[in-house]
Amino acid sequence: DTRNIEIKINGKTRNMSVEPRTTLVEALRDTLGMTGTKIGCNQGQCGACTVLLNGSRVNSCLTLAVMAEGGEVVTVEGLADPSGDLHPMQSAFARNDAFQCGYCTPGQILSAIACIDEGHAGNEAEIREYMSGNLCRCGAYPNIVAAIVQVRD
Ligand code: FES
Repeated sequence: DTRNIEIKINGKTRNMSVEPRTTLVEALRDTLGMTGTKIGCNQGQCGACTVLLNGSRVNSCLTLAVMAEGGEVVTVEGLADPSGDLHPMQSAFARNDAFQCGYCTPGQILSAIACIDEGHAGNEAEIREYMSGNLCRCGAYPNIVAAIVQVRD
């Protein structure tokens, strides 16, 4: 039992055939081969799978692909501009050493962008609260906050 859906991903319309229970992260990684979005817990606890759906961040492991039908998704692959220039948040993460192993970084960066876009970057406490759903086992939290503050300012 599959269904054909259309989702705009990083500005490009993609058609795919998914099962009703296929999650968005499975559609991205397994169906489309876009492995920039990571799976950590696969149950909404770690934020590794964070993407933007219609401008809001979502855990793509908790979002069914069919729920994104007709919508717009932004993943880490869509952040740098086509000439290869990094998104300001990517540059800020690099400048501030806001990662160690890097596994959580795609999700952190999407959340960090949403943090500013949604107006939750007023001060460090607010940033930490907003970012609390994105776990980093290496403990790069202070550097992640520093990167967000730099982009905000
Ligand atoms: Fe989705 Fe952990 S993999 S929240």
